[in-house]
Amino acid sequence: MDLKGIKLTWLGHATFRIETPGGKTVIIDPWIMGNPMCPEADKTVKKVDVLLCTHGHGDHIGDAVEIAKQHNPVVVGIPELARWLGKKGAKQVAEMNKGGTQTVGDIQVTMVHADHSCGIQDGDELIYGGEACGYVIRFSNGVKIYHAGDTNVFGDMAIIRDLYAPQIAMLPMGDHYTMGPREAAYACTLLKPQFVIPMHFGTFPVLTGRPAELQKLAPQVQVFEMKPGVTIG
Ligand code: NI
Ligand code: MN
Repeated sequence: MDLKGIKLTWLGHATFRIETPGGKTVIIDPWIMGNPMCPEADKTVKKVDVLLCTHGHGDHIGDAVEIAKQHNPVVVGIPELARWLGKKGAKQVAEMNKGGTQTVGDIQVTMVHADHSCGIQDGDELIYGGEACGYVIRFSNGVKIYHAGDTNVFGDMAIIRDLYAPQIAMLPMGDHYTMGPREAAYACTLLKPQFVIPMHFGTFPVLTGRPAELQKLAPQVQVFEMKPGVTIG
């Protein structure tokens, strides 16, 4: 996979750290300290310029508030979630909604649909968190990455293909709370990426889907299995 100067690290589950060619650090779905898949060495966040949050479930924004307070990154999310994060202490909130594109740091992010729920657990209360979403990230070197968030397969993934043509798709495929391999394989036929990076599997016993199953069901794409904490590019 030629990332043309991008450095990409999977921290387990749906959490990724990306260093852009311009030297900015982007974290998608910051669930780090409590993430059993995240290696110890990566549990301390040293630097982050942009936080992208797909939805309000704890396994995606578990450390968003803490990291925002420590590093003051630009925090991107759907308005209901972004404003909640702002209320909890994030200072640079850059809310947006589906179909919109904005420049944050040195990347362009487009918010796209996800077929999933989105409540925020706030102490004893479950708060409405807007809708779950995914992101297409466009880097200055031409690389485009689609992070699907938590989602089932949906027909409009074909629109994501037509409009943005991401070369790399990060797809959940653990089953139970998101797509399993069968649904993720169908998503590959709609998205037609060069590479699929599987995520949201193996973290808990119910997340039974495995990259090898996906590769078998989607032989036309290259399933690229990352190892938590190992940087590529
Ligand atoms: Ni979720
Ligand atoms: Mn999840």
